Amino acid sequence: MTEYETHEFDVVIVGAGGAGLRAAVEARARGLRTALVCKSLLGKAHTVMAEGGVAASLGNVYPEDNWEVHFRDTMRGGKMLNNWRMAQLHAQESPDRVRELEDWGALFDRTKDGLILQRDFGGHRYARLAHIGDRTGLELIRTLQQKAVADGIEVFMEVKAVRLVHDTTGVVAGVVGYHRPTGEFVVFRAKAVVLATGGVGKSWMYTSNSWESTGDGLAMALWAGADVIDMECVQFHPTGMVWPLSVRGLLVTEGVRGDGGVLRNSEGVRFMFNYIPPMFAAETADTEEEADRWYEDHSAGRRTAELLPRDEVARAINSEVKAGRGSPHGGVFLDIATRRSAEYIRRRLPSMYHQFKELAGVDITVDPMEVGPTCHYVMGGVRVDADTAATTVAGLFAAGEVAGGMHGANRLGGNSLSDLLVFGRRAGIGAAEYAATHTGPVTLDEGEIEVAVRGATAPLGREEGESPYDIHRDLQETMQTLVGIIRTGSELEEAMGKLDALEERAGRVAVAGNRVYNPGWNLATDLPSMLTVSRCATLGAINRKESRGGHTRDDFPVADPELGKVNFVQRIPHDADHTSGPGNCPATRTISIAPEPLLVMPDELQALFEEDH
Ligand code: FUM
Repeated sequence: MTEYETHEFDVVIVGAGGAGLRAAVEARARGLRTALVCKSLLGKAHTVMAEGGVAASLGNVYPEDNWEVHFRDTMRGGKMLNNWRMAQLHAQESPDRVRELEDWGALFDRTKDGLILQRDFGGHRYARLAHIGDRTGLELIRTLQQKAVADGIEVFMEVKAVRLVHDTTGVVAGVVGYHRPTGEFVVFRAKAVVLATGGVGKSWMYTSNSWESTGDGLAMALWAGADVIDMECVQFHPTGMVWPLSVRGLLVTEGVRGDGGVLRNSEGVRFMFNYIPPMFAAETADTEEEADRWYEDHSAGRRTAELLPRDEVARAINSEVKAGRGSPHGGVFLDIATRRSAEYIRRRLPSMYHQFKELAGVDITVDPMEVGPTCHYVMGGVRVDADTAATTVAGLFAAGEVAGGMHGANRLGGNSLSDLLVFGRRAGIGAAEYAATHTGPVTLDEGEIEVAVRGATAPLGREEGESPYDIHRDLQETMQTLVGIIRTGSELEEAMGKLDALEERAGRVAVAGNRVYNPGWNLATDLPSMLTVSRCATLGAINRKESRGGHTRDDFPVADPELGKVNFVQRIPHDADHTSGPGNCPATRTISIAPEPLLVMPDELQALFEEDH
C-alpha cells in the first residue's frame, strides 16, 4: 500500500477559481473548518479568461434593466434548455454578489456619477457587464483570494485530485489526490465536498482554456455516481486568436465587440448582418447604417449584429471561412481601430492591446485582429439542485462551470462570473448546512483509496507503452475535427470509434521516471477524465438529434420542440465495473444516457416570455 498523508476538514472544496473561492468564503463564514484544494497555484484559474465583465442587472447604465429582463435574456440565450430556477436565482442575486465584491475591494470601472460602469455584451438586452477594463476575471479572483486567505481558509496548492472517495455508508466524504511537485499522495476527509473544478477545454485542440481544464471534477462526479446533463452543449467563443499558431485559441474578449468592434470578412463586408436569426431580428439592427446610429445614440434594445449570442456569431464566422471569405490564417477580421480612438482602445482594452502587440506584432489601434472560434466553456455539467448546489450523490456539491443547467444550450458572455459568485456562495451554504448535520467521525472506504492510487501510478510501472502526449494530441484532433462547432451523425459515430481506441491505448500508457516533477505522469493522470468527458460530449451529441445553442447538427439543422423539453442525462450505474478503464476508473462504455423532462417553469416566469419585450 502506497503511503499517503491525510487531512480532515468539515468542507473540502476542489478548485480555486471564482466558484471555489466564493464557496470557501461562505463555508468558512459559517465557522467550518474549510480547505481549498487546487491543481495550480492560487490565483491561476480559467476564471481570469472571463475578461469582459460580470453580468448583473445593476441598472447603472440603463435604469430600466432588472432581474426579469436578465432572466429572460439568459433563458433565450440558452435556447430555453436552462434550469429555470438556476437562471432565476442567478438573475435575482447577481447584483448583490457584485456589490459585495466591491465591498471586499474589487475596483470596478466607473460611470461619470461614480457608479459601477456596465458594458454591452452579446445577447444582453441592456449594457449589463460590470467590468474592470478587460481584466474582470483577474480582479474577481484577486479580490476573493485576498478575502479567503484573510478569513483563514487553508489552501493546498498544486494538488491534482484523482478520485472522490465514499465513506463506509456510501456517501461522498473525501478526495484522494497527489502533490504535483513531489508526487506524494494525499487524502482529504470531509463531511462535504464541493467540486468547483471548471471545464473540459483541453480535450479540444483550439481552446481558451489552460492546462488545468481537463474535466477532472466532471469525471470524478460521474465516477462517484452523480448525474451529468447536456454534455453535448459546448461553447465555442467566436473570437480566439488564430495567429501565430503557438497562441491559437487564446481568448479575444467579447468586450472588443461590446465596445464597438465589428467583424469583417476578406471582402471587407460586415457579414454578421447576413446571419441574424428570426428569434433576434426584432432586437437587432439590420443594416450597417442602423447599427452605426445605435452606437451613436446607444438606445437600449437595439443590438448590433456582432452582439448576437456567441453560438450565432461562432457559426457565422465558421460559415464565412468555409465559403472562402476568411482571413489569411483561417479566421475573420475583428476591427476596432476604425471605430474607436487609440486612446479609448488602450484605456478600455489594455490586455487586448498588449496581447496582440506582444504575441502577434499587431497594433489593434491601427490594424484589425485575426480571430476565429475557440473552445471556451461547457454548458453541460454535473446535475445540481438550484437552491443548494447539491448533486445527486449525498455529500457532494458542485458550482461554477463544472455544474450543468444554468446556461442551457448556450451561455451568454458575462454570465459565468455571476454564475460562479451566485452558486459558489450557494454551494458553500449547502455544503456547510449538510456538514453541520453530519457530526460523527468520517470513515473512508480504504479500498477505494487503494484502487485510485494504484490506478494513478500504473503508468510509471510499465516498461513500455503509449505516450500520454500522443494520446492527448490524438484526442484533441478527434474532438476538434469530429465533435466541433458543426457536427454530423456519421462523424460523431466515427469519433466514438476513435475514443474507444484512445481509451484502449490510455490503458497501456507508460511514463519514464518517478513521481517527482514528472509532467508526463501528470498528463497521464489527466487522461481518464479527458476521455470520460469527451465521451460524454460525443454521446450527448449523437443523442440530441437537433440543433440548439452550442450544439449544431448539420444533419438536423433546426431545433426540435420535443427535444427542447428534455435534458440528456448521463450516469454510470451503481453495479457497473468501476475499475475497468484506464487509471482504474470506470470504462467509458459504462456510461448510460437517457432523456429526462426539464423542470416545469412556473406560470409567472413563463408569462415573461409571452409579453411583447
Ligand atoms: O469574452 C470574454 O470576455 C469572456 C467572457 C465570458 O466568457 O463570460
